[in-house]
Amino acid sequence: MSANRVPLTARRNGPLSGTVRVPGDKSISIRALILGALTVGATPVAGLLEGEDVLNTAKALQALGARIERTGARRWLIQGVGVGGFAEPAHALDFGNSGTGCRLMLGAVAGCPITATFDGDASLRSRPMQRVLDPLQRMGARALASENGRLPLTLAGARDPIPIVFKPPVPSAQLKSATLLAGLAAPGETVVVEAEATRDHTEKMLAHFGADIRVEPVNDGGRRIALAGQPELVSRPVTVPADPSSAAFPLIAALLVPGSDVILNGVMMNPLRTGLMTTLAEMGAAIERTAERNEGGEDVADLRIRAGALRGVEVPAARAPSMIDEYPILAVAAAFAEGSTVMRGLKELRVKESDRLAATAALLRVNGVAADIEGDDLIVQGKGRPAGGGVVTTHMDHRIAMAAIVLGLASERPVQIDDGTFIATSFPGFIELMRSLGAELS
Ligand code: S3P
Repeated sequence: MSANRVPLTARRNGPLSGTVRVPGDKSISIRALILGALTVGATPVAGLLEGEDVLNTAKALQALGARIERTGARRWLIQGVGVGGFAEPAHALDFGNSGTGCRLMLGAVAGCPITATFDGDASLRSRPMQRVLDPLQRMGARALASENGRLPLTLAGARDPIPIVFKPPVPSAQLKSATLLAGLAAPGETVVVEAEATRDHTEKMLAHFGADIRVEPVNDGGRRIALAGQPELVSRPVTVPADPSSAAFPLIAALLVPGSDVILNGVMMNPLRTGLMTTLAEMGAAIERTAERNEGGEDVADLRIRAGALRGVEVPAARAPSMIDEYPILAVAAAFAEGSTVMRGLKELRVKESDRLAATAALLRVNGVAADIEGDDLIVQGKGRPAGGGVVTTHMDHRIAMAAIVLGLASERPVQIDDGTFIATSFPGFIELMRSLGAELS
């Protein structure tokens, strides 16, 4: 992707208004494909995110022998091969920009007696993989990776996987999930003990597909997750709710563009994903949750957002796992607030699709906002209304691209981004959706 860059410019226009639904959750979409492929039988998925990251995971699963077909708009059917049933792929698996797809699939392959090569784009090739390989190697998989555990890498799955107790060194749903997926093929119990709870979609979906998985709280905010290996997973339909991490962009645009009044339908409100909602409430944002309900095992709500003044706040480090993907767009909101906002404990942002800590600070600075990185903290001085006028380098990072566009929709002068192509990894139709609300994007 992105042989040709697509620069975009966002500028102020009238208020945003309308009712829209953002695409399906990326984390759940990727997990639905993988777990569907590990069951025997047919798994129908409704509301799948048809973004590049998800489609690349589907292609990798097809190369491993699963049958995956599109049956309608956002509707897909997966014919699984069962736990341990992957066939050796004829070519390298290309995950494009997707850390989640790649890392979860490393786990899924680690428990199968096959060899597969994993690769991705320049962004994914720069991201750490050894942190995932560590537990998988303890379970018996062997890996040959490029320098300091980078892609491309070749993984030989374990013939007889060993169940382990794993304590992830960083809060990461990807590390947890990779270990659990490998544990499916091991006899006995695989245990992950996380010091801070991270998104629990893998655990919930494993239970949905009939695995014996027990989750209990440990030491003030942590979790102990125990999975009984070698289950007979049963195919069950999956419904994917709207992605709160994608919803964050039109949501904050509606808060910042004066006079806006926007409704976002069916947004997932899983408590491990709602750190941004908590933070925005503290900043004084007018967000109303209506029609709160459960869809496909997840809490969802319709959100009504009205523009209004925000105040700067301090966001504690402990909240980071529940809003890890939302810091670039929160930093944009902070730029429009009264007073400074301090976001603590953002070390993990350095290893996202880009060094997101640096990229977020740079996107603000080039648009006339003071942003400082102190250790792992980001401090943004609120401006009321930033000047804008900058050209933002997006570093192959979809969330930097969308955050910069939202800034440009509300700043004094237009904001340009160097490349909008990566938006399609997580939010296909973003430009059209924003235009339908009244945004001016060219
Ligand atoms: C994800 C976990 C998070 C997040 C990513 C999706 C997942 O990454 O940033 O966008 O679906 O498990 P880490 O596990 O690296 O924190």
